[in-house]
Amino acid sequence: MCGIIAAASTRNVGKLLVQGLHKMEYRGYDSAGIALHQENSIAHLRSVGKVQLLEEKMIEEKPKSKLGIAHTRWATHGEPSEANAHPHKSKESVYIVHNGIIENYVELKESLIAKGYDFTSQTDSELIAHLLDFFINKGNSMIEAMYLAKEKLDGAYAIAAIDLKDNSNLVVARNKSPLLIGLGTDEMFAASDPLAIAQLTNDFIFLEDGDVASISAEEYKIYDSSKAEVTRDVTHIDISSQATSKGDFRHFMEKEIYEQPEAVSSTIDGRIGGEDVLDNIFGLGSSDLFSKVERIQIVACGTSLHAGRVAANWFSSIAELPCQIDYASEYRYRNPHVDKNSLLITISQSGETADTLAALNYAREKDYLASLTICNVPTSSLARESDFSLFTNAGPEIGVASTKAFTTQLAGLMLLALSLAKSRNLNPLLRGRIIKALRLLPETIAEALLCKEKMIEIAPSIANKDNALFLGRGIFYPIAKEGALKLKEISYIHAEAYPAGELKHGPLALIDENMPVIALAPESEIAEKLISNLEEVKARGGTLYVFADPSVNMDVKAGHLIHMPKCDFFMTPIVYNIPLQILSYEVALLRGTDIDQPRNLAKSVTVE
Ligand code: AGP
Repeated sequence: MCGIIAAASTRNVGKLLVQGLHKMEYRGYDSAGIALHQENSIAHLRSVGKVQLLEEKMIEEKPKSKLGIAHTRWATHGEPSEANAHPHKSKESVYIVHNGIIENYVELKESLIAKGYDFTSQTDSELIAHLLDFFINKGNSMIEAMYLAKEKLDGAYAIAAIDLKDNSNLVVARNKSPLLIGLGTDEMFAASDPLAIAQLTNDFIFLEDGDVASISAEEYKIYDSSKAEVTRDVTHIDISSQATSKGDFRHFMEKEIYEQPEAVSSTIDGRIGGEDVLDNIFGLGSSDLFSKVERIQIVACGTSLHAGRVAANWFSSIAELPCQIDYASEYRYRNPHVDKNSLLITISQSGETADTLAALNYAREKDYLASLTICNVPTSSLARESDFSLFTNAGPEIGVASTKAFTTQLAGLMLLALSLAKSRNLNPLLRGRIIKALRLLPETIAEALLCKEKMIEIAPSIANKDNALFLGRGIFYPIAKEGALKLKEISYIHAEAYPAGELKHGPLALIDENMPVIALAPESEIAEKLISNLEEVKARGGTLYVFADPSVNMDVKAGHLIHMPKCDFFMTPIVYNIPLQILSYEVALLRGTDIDQPRNLAKSVTVE
């Protein structure tokens, strides 16, 4: 989704701003732009499509500047076009970039038009430039103008602005949309994503909602919502360039798939000991709190929600706790009843998903015992706003399609199920068995990754289809859903998932020779029933791709039976997901899609 980078320096900033935009390409965007202060004018370049095109314009025009703002836009209001791309300007003087959505933009736009402002875009963002210009022209400083503008704006925003009348300062503001300051030597930066400036500094200040800041090459000043100057902590983060480059892999998604054994080790390491999970791994006091928990509520989106659906099974079978799970975007609109001693769990790779954050904020008003997040980004809003947390330590996930984040979320959620069981003095033998299996998990995942050749062999027979059906039962239904999501988001093949028993209640009508049916058949008490469901598919000409326990043997006719590594049943959802990721990747490769940045999608969905 949209990305902001801004810089004030004693050297030229054009090139480093564009480099920062490249670093944010993974987030998903459709146009890019830059505004560079040049003493008597502001150079303003925008292009639709890849940042590369903006870079070509920069090479042609060679603007020199020590103060600038730049942006990648993911369209919300108005199509992807040069006119709608950021930065937006007011009277060749005030230039802004904006992430988020201004909810009252229609009325604000009308009032600015009445004041004589011309609008050249269909966006909700352009009015911010006009509002700032209006207040600056009334004699206010940029900072004062930003506060006055904030009073008018409803919605979520991260804003960076420059004014022709000031060649050394940029002003930023944050409300419900991530924004940080990066501290350099003789230069300062602002960005919506630390990765954008990770090559320039390791020292970051994460702004809080309501903050406004002025930034020059030499200094920064931060003011809170009451306009008082405040000091915010400096966080040192060393994001290695290795973590943010593809290395020898063709795509970040491919790299991230094959990083999973190591990523899962990082999730588990230091959190288990002997035959049990260690105490307080979710934060000081978490083990005590867990002994009081009587019910769980999970909210998350997309892949993270699928991880939650798997975990709901574990909370029930390992910790003997009931669990309700909601799409974060739906949760607060169903007027949820909260039972006493309920624990709220959010799950998110980015920790910046607007719907999940909104659900957490809504839940804060309710009577939850506490909130806990399973998250991959320790500096994220979700991490900072939750009472307890466990960071999955997967390292940056750049591919839009979530892979290692999902696998490590599952490992983290298993630790949570074990911790809840331990605090409730439940199932010590089972806990010991699962800990043993968790220790073996990185190895088992490495073994599952060896199915690559087989996936390459079967990918062509799926790549030439328009639809696919994924089947699983019990805890494998969410894994089937995740498999379908992966295939559709990167290959653009329409894919759906069903609990296999539901087939004959409707979807069986879809089965013919053009419908690949991908089924998950681990050894379980319902394996036989699943096999009967698959026989029904076979009898109707559907091509079967069955991922199964070595003990499962069935005649798949012209289809494929792929035996998975043997492992403890509690690890099977994690392990069976691996070949589905590889299959989607290989199918997408054959279809020539933009795997790391699939069309229309964004990595971090920061608007509701
Ligand atoms: C998965 O491949 C997705 N791109 C998407 O569903 C993602 O999981 C979802 O947007 C939630 O993101 P989060 O984990 O960062 O909150």
